[in-house]
Amino acid sequence: ERLFQVAIDGPAAAGKSTVAKIAAKTLGFVYIDTGAMYRSLTYKALMTGTDINDGHQLKQLLDQTEIELVQEGNGQKVYVDGTDVTDRIRYPDVSEHVSLVSSFEEVRMEMVSRQRKLAASCSVVMDGRDIGTHVLPKAQVKIFLIASVDERAIRRYKEEELKGRHPSIESLREAIALRDKKDMEREVSPLVKAEDAIALDTTSLSIEEVVKKILQLVKEKQ
Ligand code: C5P
Repeated sequence: ERLFQVAIDGPAAAGKSTVAKIAAKTLGFVYIDTGAMYRSLTYKALMTGTDINDGHQLKQLLDQTEIELVQEGNGQKVYVDGTDVTDRIRYPDVSEHVSLVSSFEEVRMEMVSRQRKLAASCSVVMDGRDIGTHVLPKAQVKIFLIASVDERAIRRYKEEELKGRHPSIESLREAIALRDKKDMEREVSPLVKAEDAIALDTTSLSIEEVVKKILQLVKEKQ
């Protein structure tokens, strides 16, 4: 059986993981959240006092770090060296520093190698920033999800609210815009739409509508 790859890229909080999870479940593919891998390394670097301005130290730390993405029911759990960090890697300290950690070439090379291994033996829906451009350049379906920064800040606020937190929408908006800027302006594999990716603006689309569109695109290529 031919392996199938769906690459979903786009800026922060555009709804990538939400639709990727549902699409993967529907298709019976494995969902791979590459942002969780960069977040995991960032978390471990912060916990161990590693200099996050030093790409070589980060790469050495990564070499000693096991990152596991485990499918559980409707969700995905993330384990760093056996510890469940699923919620912890979404905290603001990690979100603030993850773009710096993921800007180093040595770090990215190792992450991309791990990501390709994960996709080598099964069909996948993988989301991130460089999946269509670098990690899986031959993916049969490539999606570039976008949404206005205001809409993304509101969506993030609603997620935070469900967890009992009430950050200001303005602070969320600023954090999202700053992370996008860093991800788009970095030298190595910046966030950019792959030429052959289909851009989907989700500002006024529901989750169901986006998922439906993705499933349609997969069906056309299967
Ligand atoms: O997807 P998520 O927002 O969790 O990603 C967190 C950060 O990880 C991004 O802002 C980006 O800096 C980095 N990242 C990356 N390449 C990927 C996935 C995430 O550089 N493929």
